[in-house]
Amino acid sequence: NGGGKGGRGALIVLEGLDRSGKSSQCARLLSFLEGKGCATEGWRFPDRDTSVGKMISAYLANESQLDDRTIHLLFSANRWEKRSLMESKLLGGTTLVVDRYSYSGVAFSAAKGLDIGWCKAPEVGLLAPDLVIYLDVQPEKAAERGGYGGERYERVEFQKRVAEHYHSLRDLTWKVVDGSLPMETVEEQLRELAMNCISECQDKHLTNLTW
Ligand code: TYD
Ligand code: MG
Repeated sequence: NGGGKGGRGALIVLEGLDRSGKSSQCARLLSFLEGKGCATEGWRFPDRDTSVGKMISAYLANESQLDDRTIHLLFSANRWEKRSLMESKLLGGTTLVVDRYSYSGVAFSAAKGLDIGWCKAPEVGLLAPDLVIYLDVQPEKAAERGGYGGERYERVEFQKRVAEHYHSLRDLTWKVVDGSLPMETVEEQLRELAMNCISECQDKHLTNLTW
């Protein structure tokens, strides 16, 4: 399954509120897939290593101020600058497990009051995920989990609005997993979803986000 058969890799995205468990589950899924002999890489957005990513990082740490539309476009640019590498990895047979993607971009910016159509526009033409796993955790529960790290957006009232926007973005590629279940249970569900996705998408063409 996965690499070696000439099929393309799968684009698997994990989404959810801050502290919903995405990063831990991405890491667990990655090592599981690697253990299966599947060519896999873990990616995350924002990618804080690029020059755009450094601007985003400073903004999130409240070390710089940017207006809402400007930061929105930087988050989007941070995905665009990785698009061609993403495409070549997938076509080369590598599955990508991605911690946050365009849905974060839209849900977080729309939660500030920006028009949702305007938020979606710069995402059009990025690669469409084969599977989006939404880790569903109540904003209050997420906040209780060892607290937030103090970055911008890590406030429960704001996260509630983000959750509402995430809800409105759900489509056929989304699988909602109850992120309040024990870690091992969540992990098991993700494994199954990912394995099914990887085998199903081998013969499917890559497509673009159309929104
Ligand atoms: P996050 O994944 O939480 O990074 P870390 O695990 O290092 O804390 O991402 C940082 C924040 O950026 C998070 O609150 C969500 C927000 N975000 C956007 O507002 N727009 C985007 O396009 C992305 C990818 C993230
Ligand atoms: Mg965070």
